[in-house]
Amino acid sequence: MDLVIEGKAYIKGSFENCCIGISDGKICEIKKIIKADKNLNFGNKLVLPAGVDLHVHFRDPGLTHKEDFSTGTMAAAYGGISCVFDMPNTIPQTTTLQNISDKIALASKKSYVDFGVNAGISDNNIKNIEELAKKCCGFKIYLGDTTNSLRFSSSNLKKAFDKIKLINKPVLIHAEEDNCLIKHNLKENNLVDHINSHPAECEEIAVKNILKISRDINTKVHICHLSSIEGLDLLRNHPRNVSFGVTPHHLLFSAQDNLKPQSHYKVNPPIRSNLDREALFDGLKNGLIDALESDHAPHTLREKDKEFDDTPSGVPGVETIFPLFLYMAKKKILSFQRLISLLCEKPADLMNVSKGKIEVGRDADFIVVDLKRGCKIKPENLHSKCGWTPFEGKSAIFPEYVFVRGEKLIEEHEMLGIKGFGKFVGE
Ligand code: NCD
Ligand code: ZN
Repeated sequence: MDLVIEGKAYIKGSFENCCIGISDGKICEIKKIIKADKNLNFGNKLVLPAGVDLHVHFRDPGLTHKEDFSTGTMAAAYGGISCVFDMPNTIPQTTTLQNISDKIALASKKSYVDFGVNAGISDNNIKNIEELAKKCCGFKIYLGDTTNSLRFSSSNLKKAFDKIKLINKPVLIHAEEDNCLIKHNLKENNLVDHINSHPAECEEIAVKNILKISRDINTKVHICHLSSIEGLDLLRNHPRNVSFGVTPHHLLFSAQDNLKPQSHYKVNPPIRSNLDREALFDGLKNGLIDALESDHAPHTLREKDKEFDDTPSGVPGVETIFPLFLYMAKKKILSFQRLISLLCEKPADLMNVSKGKIEVGRDADFIVVDLKRGCKIKPENLHSKCGWTPFEGKSAIFPEYVFVRGEKLIEEHEMLGIKGFGKFVGE
């Protein structure tokens, strides 16, 4: 045995003081007492599974002035995320086997935490889906146009699903219907204009289409960043293979909040009304929503400080997602059970990785949390290259220690890990 971690650990749905034995980066034993040469005792601090963020945009290659795999995965590590799944809207886009291999190669040299890569499906590469499946962890489809996205016509959804259903990998979908977006297109000056140009109706149409087409297949279909009551209502009775994610920004902000500057909060799908926000939060608490995902979409402050209409959509969030909700779990706004299901167990299962649970055989990915150590989020303490956060001033609890495959990456909030430790999870 290489290491034993002792603490108040979250095992099978509850906390118990116990020892977790680690061998070759995996959990090999969980018992009240394990004797070993190397033993780390965290006393009454919480030992939780590290988070899995199924939705990040690390901008590498091609847009590395915003982020790259080293800064993105460093931010993830500090925030208690041990595995991220990168989206395909880089330059070049991750739409060919070669581009996927190239991204895996560059990320393998730069990453602090483990990572997966999603293949982008556009109208032009549907025929290559089987080939892309050799390397990718999942597929991403954009039904509506967004920042540097890939053109995909909803009339092609059935054709793409007919291929994807033969492959045991998930498909993740940005659910805003493009014809609907085009119909509502307008020059925007503020967040209310952004809602009007991205009305809930566009999400509703997209979700309906996806549900219809997902009914008779077994493939895992994940609808990303749900944002509206209309979308939420459709999920009350959905097929078992379909899951839904929400982001912290849709849960914590509404367009009625007097957010400043407005352009910083421009994101797709948009931040909507307080009623939408409350409905999403209820769905989070009562189990309707399956996953939390950051949709970490860093843009520089220079880009986000442009005129509203010229500002790119997207906000950063990979480092703050777990800390924000750890604070809410401490305050009993959300239970630890729900939080760990939403940010660890469900994303790991969806993306087919052996992480997200403290269980024999899984990767030894943990965070250690001292609930007494809360703080306010400050941009200067974060690690994304973009240098700002929409969550400035919000309360959070950052993990004190982070372990990935049994290696201590973060110790007392300091990085011990090295670039290149992070491994591709799709082999
Ligand atoms: C994302 C980005 O910037 O890459 N922007 C966003 O508003 N969410 C693209 C996307 O996922 O829509
Ligand atoms: Zn995204």
